[in-house]
Parts: sequence; C-alpha cells; structure tokens
Amino acid sequence: MLKKALLAIPVALALGATAHAEKPPEEVLQGLIDSIDSRYLTQSEMNLMMMPDNPALWVGMDGEDLFHTPRGPNNVSMEACDFGKGPGVLEGAYVEMPRYFDDTGKVMDLETRIVHCMTEVQGFAADDPAVRQRHGSGSDHMKIQTYIAMQSNGMEWNNPLDHPLEKAMRDAGQVLFARRAGMSDFNCYACHGQSGKQVRASVLPNANVPEDWTKAISWPAHRVGHDNVRSSQHRVRGCYYQMRQAGMLAGSDASIALISYWTDMARGQPAILPDMKR
Ligand code: HEC
Repeated sequence: MLKKALLAIPVALALGATAHAEKPPEEVLQGLIDSIDSRYLTQSEMNLMMMPDNPALWVGMDGEDLFHTPRGPNNVSMEACDFGKGPGVLEGAYVEMPRYFDDTGKVMDLETRIVHCMTEVQGFAADDPAVRQRHGSGSDHMKIQTYIAMQSNGMEWNNPLDHPLEKAMRDAGQVLFARRAGMSDFNCYACHGQSGKQVRASVLPNANVPEDWTKAISWPAHRVGHDNVRSSQHRVRGCYYQMRQAGMLAGSDASIALISYWTDMARGQPAILPDMKR
C-alpha cells in the first residue's frame, strides 16, 4: 500500500494539480481508438506520440495563473465566477456547457461565459485586449479556456437540456447543422455525415459516430498546422469558411446553438482535453 502511494507521487507531480487526470488525454483517445475502427481517430500516429508533450498543456498552465490572479479594475480573480457548478468550481464544468445561466438569462458556451466573467465580475471594458483578443496561444482567452477545459478531461459530454432555452438552442443548432446554403449548397453533413470522407489529406470526423465526434469537438486543441491552440468558436468560423458561407460571429446565439447541438451529438463520450489536431 505504502509502495503504491509512493509510486503515485511522481505521476501526481508530473501532471500537477492543473488537470483532471485520471487518464491523460492520449489515453482517453487510445480508449476510443480501441473501441471502434475509425480512420479519423487513427490518422495521425505522430500526433498521438506528441500528445504527452502537447504545447496546449503549457497554455493551460499559463491559464491556471491567470485564472487565480486578481485582475481587472475590480481586482478580483476568476474564482468568483460561476461556470455552472458554483463560483470557482471547474471540475466537470466544461463538459456541461453550453448551459443556461440564471444571471444572464442566456445559454452560454465557455468562451462567452469567460467574456461575461471578465466584464461583469472583473470589470474589464468590453474592448480591453484581454476581452477582445480571442485567438492564438498567447491570448488570455485561449490560456483560460484551456485551463478550464482541462478540468473536464476524460469526463463525458453532458450539456444539460432541462431548461426550455437549452433545448431550443440545441434544436436550433440541429437546423443550422443541416441547413444548406451558399454557392456550393453545403451543409455540415456534406463533409461530416459519413465515415472516411477526406478533404485533401485530412480524414474528416463523422458526426453520426459519437466516438469520432467527441474528438472532433474536443477543443481547445493544439492545431499543429497553425502552431496555435484553437477554440470551438474558431472551429465554427473555420467550417463556415469551408462552406463558403457568411462568417459566423463569435459568441452569437447561432454559434452557441451549433455548439449545443455538436456537444449533444457527442453525449456520453469522454472529452479529450486538451487535444491535438492536424
Ligand atoms: C467542405 C467540407 C466541410 C464542411 C461542409 C464542414 N466542414 Fe468541418 N471540417 C472540414 C475540414 C477539412 C476539417 C478538418 C480541419 C482542417 O483540416 O481544416 C473540419 C473539421 C471540423 C471539426 C473538427 C475536427 C478536426 O479534426 O479538426 C469540427 C467540429 C467541424 N469541422 C464541424 C463542422 C460544422 C459544425 C460544420 C457546419 C457548420 C462543418 N464542419 C462543415 C471540412 C468541412
């Protein structure tokens, strides 16, 4: 018993108190790979090998500092913010988002909730760079998002649908997912409705296969091709661009509706946080 406890110490030190880490992200992914036959999940052996050194882990560590430091005109830390499970409670919060928040009367995803916390609790102006800059590993947003999301690693996606607005947003997302528009008449299913579809060298995830889809929606993820950690909102924007449709506004109800539906489609599958993508 004592020996077992001693052995556990280096592991705990290596992973730190920073992540929910019953299984590191690469083992969560390996479990999915073992459970089904999927070209999407297995397309990058190199990424799988690099995951223990995922640069997103460092971005998350910076986020831990930012989260716990008193900041903004009100000089309070984000521990005062409620991400759905009570002020400062992060474990399992992200896999239960988007969700309805009483204090705003809105369904919010992680990014919009962080904006709310920065502006309403910490007192930052809406156009302060800390609030405005949403993308890139160097942004406060990506650091904080990554840290919060890591506290849900390995947990099952389970966004609540009890409140009528939560259900309405999920249903609106389903309509958006299937809505064909633009010069190519694409909808999301055109590229994400069957297994083994490819755009150039990328094997695309099938939204109807939850084991594929949980990896697809596991953001923040380090995108090797961008050399940056990216968010769900960034992915939504990217796929609207892929479809040659009008740009999606970050934090808009439409973007949150889409994220509500895509989370619902991965329900019950473990999140890989942070992930690493092509
Ligand atoms: C024209 C094809 C196409 C359409 C249509 C499309 N996507 Fe994608 N999607 C891609 C490609 C390609 C990638 C992989 C990332 C890359 O290599 O750029 C991707 C990646 C993703 C991912 C992350 C998976 C990963 O491994 O990167 C999600 C989630 C996603 N798309 C959601 C959507 C949603 C939601 C829609 C509709 C709003 C949509 N996609 C429409 C081509 C498409």
